Amino acid sequence: MPRLDARCKVDLPVNIIYGNGGTNKEEKKARFLEVSLSGAYIDYKYPDPDKKIIGLRYELPKYGEFEILGKVIRGEKAGMATQFYNINRDAKLKLWDYIKENIVEGTICPYCGKDNGRKVKKCVVCGWNLDFNSPGYLVEHEKESFINRLTTRCKTFSLEDIFKVLNFVDVEILGIGKCWDINEEFVGSSRPMLEIFSMIRRVAPTELPVLITGESGTGKELTAMAIHERSLRKEGPFIPINCAAIPENLLETELFGYEKGAFTGASNNKMGKFEYAEGGTIFLDEIGELPIGLQSKILRFFEDKIVERIGSKGGKKLDVRIIAATSVDLKSAIVKGVFRKDLFYRLDAFRINLPALRERGDDKVILARYFLNKFCREMNVSKTFAKEAIDAIKNYDWPGNVREMINKIRSAIVMCSDTTITPSDLDLRIPTIDNAAAVSSLRDVRNTLEKQKLIEALNICSNNISKTAKVLGISRPSVYSLKKKYNI
Ligand SMILES: Nc1ncnc2c1ncn2[C@@H]1O[C@H](COP(=O)(O)OP(=O)(O)O)[C@@H](O)[C@H]1O
Ligand SMILES: [Mg+2]
Repeated sequence: MPRLDARCKVDLPVNIIYGNGGTNKEEKKARFLEVSLSGAYIDYKYPDPDKKIIGLRYELPKYGEFEILGKVIRGEKAGMATQFYNINRDAKLKLWDYIKENIVEGTICPYCGKDNGRKVKKCVVCGWNLDFNSPGYLVEHEKESFINRLTTRCKTFSLEDIFKVLNFVDVEILGIGKCWDINEEFVGSSRPMLEIFSMIRRVAPTELPVLITGESGTGKELTAMAIHERSLRKEGPFIPINCAAIPENLLETELFGYEKGAFTGASNNKMGKFEYAEGGTIFLDEIGELPIGLQSKILRFFEDKIVERIGSKGGKKLDVRIIAATSVDLKSAIVKGVFRKDLFYRLDAFRINLPALRERGDDKVILARYFLNKFCREMNVSKTFAKEAIDAIKNYDWPGNVREMINKIRSAIVMCSDTTITPSDLDLRIPTIDNAAAVSSLRDVRNTLEKQKLIEALNICSNNISKTAKVLGISRPSVYSLKKKYNI
């Protein structure tokens, strides 16, 4: 592997610090003979090859003392090569200043050690930039060597490590969703959920309407919020309205508002949810329940972005993104004539279909543990799942999906009298069969099959008892006794 950093020859005192089987630390004096931003060669033979991590304390002529960690990567007769760890930004900048001063100007590349024949700005052999004093050199260099370091390290990463790193970059460095904590709240690492997260990321910055489908409790509203929070409208409002929860006669006023005097009792003007959503997103939950008359008003909004309060003389133009969700099949609602086809195609510009919890594999347990920790923290208690509880969580079908899991875990924490939550605390008892019935029905099945196979075998073998015994893999006397048993 080519070197990732320019190195130079030096003669700089360093104290090597290593633990001595506990809190005792020992220090030895040595010298850096070569140093780069990522490591150094030290004229010291480390006595214990098992303890590879050491402390390194050194003093840079202009800057004073630094202490960093080093890992011994190679021991040689005359000394050892170490790699630097946890070197902070300040220490690194100062070390770079020191290295720069010690790099011998010449034709030899301080990265690969090859002779370029003349002074060049870029090594013709390894390609590294050699123009050390150019502005921004260190930043560019660090970026490039960062990629290289990540490449070598990530060979040992598991898939989970990779997600952790990407998540860290997204949340901690780029700040995506940090204020809203989407990453903490939207839990899932099963393949179908990763696909959902990627769809959310892709559709969020567009202005497309989104149709979210899935059983109740699968996270449709959470998905709608996640899209809003990652969209350019995130500073605007997110206004949810559940079309199934509001009586039909009130739904129109809720969605579109009314003018004073529009009907008896309309003593003031009222803003509708669409108006509240100006500059943001409206989330029409259970859109399949929207009465057909209101569907045409939504369709009008799609066409000219205008909504009209009840009793108003004209409409109002609004800037609102529509996200809709349904737990019923809208295509069959179209066939039944209760949902407008043209509205369906408007809404279905981008579809996200949330998988049922039972289809999410290991996510069942991951989510259960996540909620247990979350609720325990909230309730200031400490509980864990018994192994049987984990098995029950894995095997249960979760018809109410994540919402059902939340409810079961919340009440389990309250129900469970000690610290270990059992399947019965979760109300997930393994179903027990009525024993007597099970045994008798099994016996019936067995008898029917036995009789049927015996008749078949006797027919095939033309009632030859020896042949029948051979075909069935039983003895001749057994064939006789079965014939007697079933009266054949
Ligand atoms: N993947 C998930 N991670 C964490 N919480 C979830 C997840 N999916 C759903 N929830 C939670 O489950 C509950 C039901 O989700 P919701 O979005 O209301 O479902 P739906 O709208 O599909 O009925 C909410 O409290 C939501 O925060
Ligand atoms: Mg919902």
